[in-house]
Amino acid sequence: MAFVRVADESELTVDSRKIVIVSGQEYALFNVSGTVYCIDNACPHAGGPLGEGHVDSGAVSCPWHCWYFDIKTGEGLYGLGIGVGSYPCKVEDGAILIDI
Ligand code: FES
Repeated sequence: MAFVRVADESELTVDSRKIVIVSGQEYALFNVSGTVYCIDNACPHAGGPLGEGHVDSGAVSCPWHCWYFDIKTGEGLYGLGIGVGSYPCKVEDGAILIDI
C-alpha cells in the first residue's frame, strides 16, 4: 500500500502522540524529539491502546498492564516479547503520511 495522509503535522507536536484510523484499523503516531513514528495501536496482550500509554526513552508502555514496546521498531520489550507492527512515516507539505 502507498503512503496515506493521516494527520496534519500541527496535530502531532514534539513529544506528543495521536491515534489515527485507516480503513478501520487503529495506528498510534508518536513524535519523539521531532521524528514521527507509527506502530499498531492495539497491544498484542489484550488490545490496550498503546497510543494512550506512557512514553519514556523511546518506549511506550501499554496503559492496561504495562507491557512496553520500542516506538521506533515495534519490538516487544516486556511481557512475552511479542512486538507490534511498525510503519514508515514521512512529513510532506505539513501533512503526516504513513505507509501501511
Ligand atoms: S493489554 Fe497491553 S499489556 Fe495488557
